[in-house]
Amino acid sequence: MSADRDALIVAAREASEAAYAPHSRFRVGAALRFVDGAVVTGSNVENASYGLSLCAETVAVAKAFNEGRRGGLVAVAVTADGNEVVTPCGRCRQVLHELADLGRTDPLIYCCGPGEVREMRLSELLPEAFGPGSLG
Ligand code: THU
Repeated sequence: MSADRDALIVAAREASEAAYAPHSRFRVGAALRFVDGAVVTGSNVENASYGLSLCAETVAVAKAFNEGRRGGLVAVAVTADGNEVVTPCGRCRQVLHELADLGRTDPLIYCCGPGEVREMRLSELLPEAFGPGSLG
């Protein structure tokens, strides 16, 4: 396991501690690493109107955009409470794709479980993606 990968997973786990998840009690953390070495994190933010809840990955991507980032996404770690490996939901895959596509990268996604990390490219999780270029 590489030091970079370890550090990103630790950042995601630490971020999950700030989750606001009183409804599901399922805290999720996401950490995005950029080509310049910067790391941007997020955690899920739930709402009493459940469908309005924000996922950890989406929060992290929104933070990155608001810091002025437009591409350069090289790796993502996702961690969660529970006993299974967690993979980004469909909406988060699309949200991650927008940021990655701006810099023409295909980030590695570290999907973490209690004793296991599954590594996948975003393009494997979201093949034939719709993106900025699809608008013509
Ligand atoms: N959740 C995430 O933060 N990311 C995902 O990719 C999947 C689900 C959150 C949303 C909700 O707050 C909780 O996990 C249970 O679905």
